[in-house]
Amino acid sequence: MNYRSIDFVITTPPSVDQVFELLRAVIDPELGADIVTLGMVPGVSVTPEGDVTVGVKLTIGGCPLRAQIKKDVESRVAVHPGVRDVRIEWGEMNSDERTDVMLKARWNARENAPATAVPLTTRVLAIASGKGGVGKSAVTVNLAAAVAAQGFTVGVLDADIWGFSVPRLLGIDEPLEAQRVKGSDKPMIIPNELPVGPKSRGGLLKVVSTGFLVEEGTALMWRGLMLTKAVEQFLHDVEWGDLDYLFIDMPPGTGDVQMGLARMLPRTDLLIVTTPALAAQKVAARAADMARRSFLRVCGVIENMSTFTCDHGETYSLFGEGGGQLLADEIGVPLLGRIPLEAAVTTGGDAGTPVSLAGTGLAAKEFRAIAQLIVEEVSPPTNMAGCSARMLNLAAAALDAHDATK
Ligand SMILES: Nc1ncnc2c1ncn2[C@@H]1O[C@H](COP(=O)(O)OP(=O)(O)O)[C@@H](O)[C@H]1O
Ligand SMILES: [Mg+2]
Repeated sequence: MNYRSIDFVITTPPSVDQVFELLRAVIDPELGADIVTLGMVPGVSVTPEGDVTVGVKLTIGGCPLRAQIKKDVESRVAVHPGVRDVRIEWGEMNSDERTDVMLKARWNARENAPATAVPLTTRVLAIASGKGGVGKSAVTVNLAAAVAAQGFTVGVLDADIWGFSVPRLLGIDEPLEAQRVKGSDKPMIIPNELPVGPKSRGGLLKVVSTGFLVEEGTALMWRGLMLTKAVEQFLHDVEWGDLDYLFIDMPPGTGDVQMGLARMLPRTDLLIVTTPALAAQKVAARAADMARRSFLRVCGVIENMSTFTCDHGETYSLFGEGGGQLLADEIGVPLLGRIPLEAAVTTGGDAGTPVSLAGTGLAAKEFRAIAQLIVEEVSPPTNMAGCSARMLNLAAAALDAHDATK
């Protein structure tokens, strides 16, 4: 072999296919997959001189990751011998392409998601907000109880590890027990059960909270990672059994648990709770934005503490007006309801009996109406859902079976 031919071998530019292969190393950290798999690279061209042009379509033009993707694309392609220059032609996805890339990312997350003990047919609803004190826990417990009262089995996972309040709101104080169950090689945590609604319907709540593991008043100083670990353990090591719904009371603000949930249970739908104040709506919008980034679908907004009606029948908007609708419009989801500020909500919580079960006031009625909406429209139980949902579940089950054989 003479020097000339070696020179020739080294300087041959890569083929278009080779460039695509190199680009598989460029990961969009937000979407959790490489940019080729995600369909973000519409085309590649290579000149005989070794000038490579890579088309990259961003989900939005002003994507904050643009600089990082640029650097990664350039450095990955440049490592190939024979590349003289790398140029990126930026593009922006239209809404169809964006939907497509979201689906791919969700699919990908789903495919790589660790198995959980939550049945595939369970509808998972996480109740989130931008900040604490807006009534997330009150909404979680009241909706879970109202849905269960219709005869469903509803899990309640108190993922607010620091600020748990679900045990008190449901009047449960027994510690959790672990048992060896059929088909598992380790003891599983058995949720506390609470029958609700008319006996004939058989409504049941299955409740898990760190509140069952520690004494009330004990300070819990868990950091982000441990927080996610705790939630992960509740999803893996709890023997949920049959479950039509799982309601998750999310901790305020933090993105850790949300990201963890997106990884472990990517089919989770988010319900965002906000107060009517316009300032609160901005904070809640951030929660919705975070959800989008981790590819959790937001399925509705609930406005809490909407109006206050005094004993004389006069109604006041103590915390402002319109925040719920504004937020719903902004993220393009329905406003599922507006729950008034009512003493019965707090007294019901203090007594451990959610007002939505037997309450006769406006708040109780609104909770029940929202529960009805959830069951009938927003997130109908899986066995009654339309064909496409069934197919998705079949696909998910097939994927699980496939994973299990690996
Ligand atoms: N619609 C309502 N009417 C009256 N009090 C409410 C209502 N919603 C929530 N509360 C009260 O507000 C406080 C905060 O609610 P909570 O559910 O603990 O909020 P979060 O879980 O978002 O921190 C509690 O004392 C609760 O009883
Ligand atoms: Mg709470």
